[in-house]
Amino acid sequence: MRIPEEKIEEVRAAADIVDVVSGFVRLRKAGRNYTGLCPFHREKTPSFNVNPERGIFKCFGCGKGGNAVTFLMEMEKISFVDAVEMLAERYNIVLTREGTPMRPETREEIEEMYEANRLAARFFYDTLQGDAGAVGRAYFDKRGWKENTRRTFGLGFAPDAWHDFLNHARAAGISDEMLERTGLIVRKEGGNSYDRFRGRVIFPIFSVSKKVLGFGARTLKGDEQPKYLNSPETPVYVKSKVLYGLAQSHRAIRDADAVILVEGYADLISLYQEGITNVVATSGTALTPEQVYLLSRYTRNFFFLYDADSAGMSAMLRGIDIILESDCDARIVQLSAGEDPDSYVRKYGADGVRERLGEAVSFVDFVTARFQAEGGLDSPEGKAQAVHRIVELIAKMDDAIRREFYIRDISQKYGIYENLLYQELEKALRLKKKERPAARPVELIPQPEEETAAPGEVPKEEKDFCTLLLQAPSELQSEVLHGVRISQFHDARMQKLLHVLFEQEEHDGSINTDALWSYVEDDVGMHGLLADMLIERAPISERWEKEQIVRPTDNRRLLLDAYKRLLHRHVQQRRERLKEKLRFETDADLQRSLATALQQLLALDTAVKGCLSFADLPDVEDED
Ligand code: UTP
Ligand code: MN
Repeated sequence: MRIPEEKIEEVRAAADIVDVVSGFVRLRKAGRNYTGLCPFHREKTPSFNVNPERGIFKCFGCGKGGNAVTFLMEMEKISFVDAVEMLAERYNIVLTREGTPMRPETREEIEEMYEANRLAARFFYDTLQGDAGAVGRAYFDKRGWKENTRRTFGLGFAPDAWHDFLNHARAAGISDEMLERTGLIVRKEGGNSYDRFRGRVIFPIFSVSKKVLGFGARTLKGDEQPKYLNSPETPVYVKSKVLYGLAQSHRAIRDADAVILVEGYADLISLYQEGITNVVATSGTALTPEQVYLLSRYTRNFFFLYDADSAGMSAMLRGIDIILESDCDARIVQLSAGEDPDSYVRKYGADGVRERLGEAVSFVDFVTARFQAEGGLDSPEGKAQAVHRIVELIAKMDDAIRREFYIRDISQKYGIYENLLYQELEKALRLKKKERPAARPVELIPQPEEETAAPGEVPKEEKDFCTLLLQAPSELQSEVLHGVRISQFHDARMQKLLHVLFEQEEHDGSINTDALWSYVEDDVGMHGLLADMLIERAPISERWEKEQIVRPTDNRRLLLDAYKRLLHRHVQQRRERLKEKLRFETDADLQRSLATALQQLLALDTAVKGCLSFADLPDVEDED
């Protein structure tokens, strides 16, 4: 399906980048931009920038950048067309389609999986409303989940039959292979297939932007195993990166600046229905660093509200480690034995739960209480061991001030000298340093000799020139392009960019910077660079102004000078090479001709400097 170019433009213009990014990243206003923690790499201080005026984002940490469309492509792992469609839907733009695909879809299969899941979620939801869904409705009634809640979470029912969904999906044109890969059907050895979910109530699992990733399905029979049957891990359902309920709760988490972690689907839904909406469920598995990272975009304050059983306890202990390592804070609510959040909120209501949340203890107190309960604090040895374990936890925090706070806390509570605790802490910190691998692997790729910039960086002169070119008025862009030679650029990305600009200019008679995104692939960080060059206007003009080369308002002069610097660099490099040759040359004749060549280059350099327009520029191509 082809989306006409002007429709793509319309969508791009309508998309509010701050709005789109906010679905994933906690943004704060900072001058004209918004900043937040980059969703594409792990970081603790925000280097991710969004510029609403230009509709672009850029991370100065990992280099990723782009516009609303490319942002969604990255976040959701979807194709260009799918991202445009998503935005069109969101901003109520009707897409008219024509002809064949604009370009081959690399992520077609992922989209098909999303499509299969979406179809399934719809099917289960509809089934719940129909005759076959009566048992499911009765079950939800019994649990006290109201109509509105069922809709919010898209709860459904899978008919107690072997092929109902399979037949439905086949009729909708979804291949068996795709159904199997999404885990919706199970294919037997002989080749017969059947529905995975049968006679169970269905909990669809959504991404933050409401894509269906997979399903949890609860049995209605008391003794059937497993109690919850889940979708298998698939390319779209990566369990370590998903939290149940986040699609519904992320706004509340941001607003409350706190997240409540529960274990079960049921816990989450019951709390949510009662108005405690800043909740996510870890679905009975251990909290992963990816999940903590995902949540840390919304808040750094975690509350564990786990079952009071021992499985819940040990899951919490592991979770605390990860949260502290991510420089977030963990507090723990302890429910009485036999209770879980679902039963608790049912008995004591939202206020009862809030009261318990108010009494949440710090991880230090939680761990200490555990030792105490096991009699671990009764002997000096036991006490030393407990302190050791707690200090180990404190050492996981990167923030020295927070570490100090907790050290003082245990010193006071347990009557242990601070000095002693600091000694322990030092030991633990040293150990941590040894264990932890370097945050970023050192880049060892050898760079070509000429390259003056750091590995991976575009030479400054080239980037400055291209930046100015992209930001120049349209007529000037065309004029300048005619005077530019791609061979003067050493960086492959700048060459690629210029090629595209030349093509645009040749084809349309002008450059369209907004359309560049879809012409250049992001394989070498191209989109990041592009965003960088489009966002960086102010710093560049300031730099130029400071160097007092020309008035910053004179675009033509600015561009010419930028290009002259590029040529100057080129000539300089040639001179260096010649000088080197000359130094090792013993033959007098050759020495003389080298010296002459050097003289000529110097003259060329002077000629370049004196040039007043692109048309006058001398040829500085490599001949030696
Ligand atoms: P629980 O057994 O506490 O589930 O397991 P629950 O949500 O409170 O269940 P109800 O109240 O009996 O309906 C916690 C979570 O562990 C996962 C599910 O995500 C469940 O919500 N789980 C549990 C499974 O994946 N499979 C199972 O067989 C059991
Ligand atoms: Mn339960």
